[in-house]
Amino acid sequence: MIRICPSILNANFDDLPGEIEKVASTADLIHLDVMDNIFVPNFTFTPERTIEIIEFSALPIDLHLMVAEVDKKVSEYCSQNTVSVTVHFEACQDPLQTLKDIRSLGKRSGLAIKPDTPIEVVQELLQEIDMIVVMTVEPGFGGQSFMSSMMPKVEKARRYLEQRGLNDVWLQIDGGISSSTIKIARRAGADTFVAGSAVYGSENPGNMVEKLRLLASGS
Ligand code: DX5
Ligand code: ZN
Repeated sequence: MIRICPSILNANFDDLPGEIEKVASTADLIHLDVMDNIFVPNFTFTPERTIEIIEFSALPIDLHLMVAEVDKKVSEYCSQNTVSVTVHFEACQDPLQTLKDIRSLGKRSGLAIKPDTPIEVVQELLQEIDMIVVMTVEPGFGGQSFMSSMMPKVEKARRYLEQRGLNDVWLQIDGGISSSTIKIARRAGADTFVAGSAVYGSENPGNMVEKLRLLASGS
């Protein structure tokens, strides 16, 4: 199963309900990037604003927390309409416990790794992971180029999941996904795709989501 998750990072922040509406009939989840200007050199939303967005969103939320010392902060950003919460391995003191905490909030637990972090770190956390997120840009900004050099990490992650029979774990790619890169990521084994500027920079965001889905599905 393919999932397309438009990121609203490069959408019009003055009309987020309207921007989300544009992809509501074609996308699976809205990818919401929370940045604290500490873990990454950019700021997006406070916990209060994050919850407002989650609550008015016409689609369920895939929350990507780019927040330092995130272990004890997850619940501040959580609200009902959230399906999945991703924290960064690099921002956790105790990743295993934090992933468990996300599950006990009733959400899918995501673990993201930055480009310099080896995929091997996920191995001993797999029992608490519902989604592995391989970053194909340095986190912080939309519109950067896709790092195809990350594909061996994606392939390895796919092998870990296959070897352990973890068929319900999603494998997400975040950064630089477009109509010219999505097939590369799919071929490496990803099934869940974040796309920000490719979707919101296009004339018709809803149609672009469909196009990305068709490309990933191989048609
Ligand atoms: C980057 C964010 C991404 C970003 C993707 O730190 O995590 O989700 O919005 O944007 P594009 O698709 O433009 O690379
Ligand atoms: Zn993201």
